[in-house]
Amino acid sequence: MAKVVTQSRAETEAFASEYAKTLRAGDVVLLDGEMGAGKTVFSKGVAKGLGIEEEVTSPTYAYMNDYDGRLFHYDCYRIESVEQAEQLGLADYFDMGGICLIEWSQNIAPLLPKNVKRVVIRKRNENEREIEY
Ligand SMILES: Nc1ncnc2c1ncn2[C@@H]1O[C@H](COP(=O)(O)OP(=O)(O)O)[C@@H](O)[C@H]1O
Ligand SMILES: [Mg+2]
Repeated sequence: MAKVVTQSRAETEAFASEYAKTLRAGDVVLLDGEMGAGKTVFSKGVAKGLGIEEEVTSPTYAYMNDYDGRLFHYDCYRIESVEQAEQLGLADYFDMGGICLIEWSQNIAPLLPKNVKRVVIRKRNENEREIEY
């Protein structure tokens, strides 16, 4: 995996916008990292890089936000069981041709497709993040 270090939220967003250009329709990207690492910031950057103008907000309560079928942004932090995720149909979007970005994917691990990409964000200090991709 490659690694980059960012010194601000803006740098992470800018890097994510560039990273977005390496993504293909149907890609499923697992965004790993602790609370406050910058997974949602990264997602905002990806959306910008894809030319999505709608503002990306954290889908903490909705579990998944759909941006025109082009980007599906998940936050599975509050998912209580794989059964719940299945009932919500969260796996239905993996092969709909959009790009899936998934925060807290460990909570839906059995539902994930075999081929995924992974981005790991580590908090080094207040404003510094190490991003492995
Ligand atoms: N280098 C950085 N990259 C990303 N976010 C950063 C950075 N430095 C500070 N931050 C702050 O960290 C927080 C990350 O929040 P968020 O993206 O919601 O985290 P997560 O979704 O991983 O829980 C934001 O408040 C952001 O301003
Ligand atoms: Mg988040």
